Amino acid sequence: KGLGQIINMRDFEKHAEELCSKVAWGYYASAADDEITKETNNTDYKKIRFRPRVLRPVKEVDSSTKILGYDSTIPLWISPAAMAKLGHPDGEVNLTKGAAATGIIQCISSFASCSVEEIAAARTNNQPLFFQLYVNSKRHLAKEVISKINRLGFNAILLTVDAPVGGKRERDIRVKGEFEAPKSDAYDKQGDTKGVAEAIFSAVDPDLNWKDLKWIREQTDLPIIIKGVQTVEDAVQAYKYGADGVVLSNHGGRQLDTSSTGISTLLEIRKHAPFLLRPEYRIPHGPSKELVQNPDLLVPSLPANEKPLERKFSIFVDGGIWRGTDVVKALCLGAEAVGVGRGFLFAQTVGGVDGAIHAVKIFESEIQLAMRLLGANKLSDLRPSMVDVVEN
Ligand code: FNR
Repeated sequence: KGLGQIINMRDFEKHAEELCSKVAWGYYASAADDEITKETNNTDYKKIRFRPRVLRPVKEVDSSTKILGYDSTIPLWISPAAMAKLGHPDGEVNLTKGAAATGIIQCISSFASCSVEEIAAARTNNQPLFFQLYVNSKRHLAKEVISKINRLGFNAILLTVDAPVGGKRERDIRVKGEFEAPKSDAYDKQGDTKGVAEAIFSAVDPDLNWKDLKWIREQTDLPIIIKGVQTVEDAVQAYKYGADGVVLSNHGGRQLDTSSTGISTLLEIRKHAPFLLRPEYRIPHGPSKELVQNPDLLVPSLPANEKPLERKFSIFVDGGIWRGTDVVKALCLGAEAVGVGRGFLFAQTVGGVDGAIHAVKIFESEIQLAMRLLGANKLSDLRPSMVDVVEN
């Protein structure tokens, strides 16, 4: 099918389902148990309503930003997702090339089906790449992986913490027996035939804990972002233990079913630990007294006496992001950027490098359209006052 017929990210999902093998679809689409969290990841965005401001010049719009200091044309990265080759023979390298062509950042999974050497070699002009780390219970193996990441010039490490063991992914279990575990640096091949997820998790250390962060810190100078934080408590803990940021994520609903969503955890942080946010995002969402008194303002002033944190701490969100409006909502509430997992797996399944490029273009045009209709010219105009949350 021509990419011209694909006008939104869900179109990629539909076409990918037609193209994928049973094993690939079982692995990509699956989520834990009854797949409730996979669903609420998306429906939680529907409970957030925009409060667009009108009669503001919106011909010019700029959706570019910096993520951990690296330029990105849109506030969105490719979330680390294992086994891209199940969908397309060139796998993760499709996404590397697509990211280069469109100026966005890709995060490579510990269980990528292309080697990190291949991916690093496919880079254009030293484009930024992040690496997602699972810590092997055999620490010397984890150490080797981290030193390779340092050597190959990766730019940040996302330490995934929501998967000390794999979730119960039933679609994946049902097709098990047809999958042979790939070779990967991050885990030992066990030899027996398992579902894709089960084969993968056999080497992740289930005893990893906050104190191990110090050990990881000693192995690298790269920023360390904790991926898979699902409560305000753990976001505070991540700051306390020296992480450079968090990805509020439940692993695309693939781990603990009916757990909270990235965007709902962001709302918890807004309520209970606003100090973790950049000062201009600490104000309540929804209508503000200050803006009603002075409606010519687009954004309320910074809260008095609110200082930035002593060290920079970045908050990112992923899970259930299918529309530009989802991205803009997360940013209004204080996220610096978001990640998209399945959307890019499906895009490269359907169209390889061109599919990845087309996906970024879809997000870019939807993000810019949402910004224009909201009355924002640049991402730093987005503020909590531009959204409100509908209670159940
Ligand atoms: C993932 N995810 C993931 N996360 C991670 O840290 N390491 C990994 O190896 C993988 N592998 C993986 C495989 C597949 C098939 C999926 C769908 C997801 C989770 C991923 O990084 C991200 O958190 C979610 O995919 C985000 O949700 P959406 O965008 O898929 O809704």
